[in-house]
Amino acid sequence: MKILVVADENEMSVEASRLIGALVRTKPNAVLGLPTGSTPLGTYRELIRMCYEENLDFSRIHTINLDEYVGLSGDHPQSYRAFMKNNFFDHINIDQSNTHVPNGLAENVEEECRRYDDLLRHYGCTDLQLIGIGQNGHIAFNEPADAFTPETHLVTLTESTINANQRFFDNREEVPRTAISMGMRGIMSTKHLILIASGEGKADAVAKSCFGPVTPEVPGSLIQLHPCVTVIVDEAAMSLSGFY
Ligand code: GLP
Repeated sequence: MKILVVADENEMSVEASRLIGALVRTKPNAVLGLPTGSTPLGTYRELIRMCYEENLDFSRIHTINLDEYVGLSGDHPQSYRAFMKNNFFDHINIDQSNTHVPNGLAENVEEECRRYDDLLRHYGCTDLQLIGIGQNGHIAFNEPADAFTPETHLVTLTESTINANQRFFDNREEVPRTAISMGMRGIMSTKHLILIASGEGKADAVAKSCFGPVTPEVPGSLIQLHPCVTVIVDEAAMSLSGFY
């Protein structure tokens, strides 16, 4: 595991976008695994700038997102499809038909999960998987549990995640209670895993994920077993790691 400790969120975004930009240049048809959340916003902004100012070309890039809320259409402003369009896809020269997000309105969620795993199999694996981390150590929507779930699956969100994500909705009642999430196999099968985190609120999750025991109670801890993982964190997010 390579851990890059940077001064702040801005530097974290610059470092992450550099790694992603380098891959896009060296493999123009790469498959990128992408997350939502506030953490990757700066990375997406920097990649958009690189697309405009440095001719970073996304025209042959494919993307696979980690998750989506159940019950929200891709047009709903808080859906992860809308998040990706508004914050990234609409601002780069990507072919939107090459971008994939689970369908939160699928009539049969189980079938949608299988379709998503088939899609992953079709691509083989992602060339790079960017991930954020929840305060309770969740990755995508893989919540703390008794066992890791390998496949894409339906998740019941924990109170901690609902509380953390309610800031994007008008009120807590509007936050969906379930989601479709890529499983840990899809995430871990990537060639290069990049975890980004910033701020004190993530310090406990970062410490446990990087230095604690590997346990499904902290889904992020599984990254310790990946052969090529880069953790890019600011000093605040690293502040509790010295205790391990
Ligand atoms: C959501 C997403 C995760 C993300 C997490 C942290 O639950 N499903 O992929 O890592 O939020 O979000 P943030 O970056 O806003 O702290």
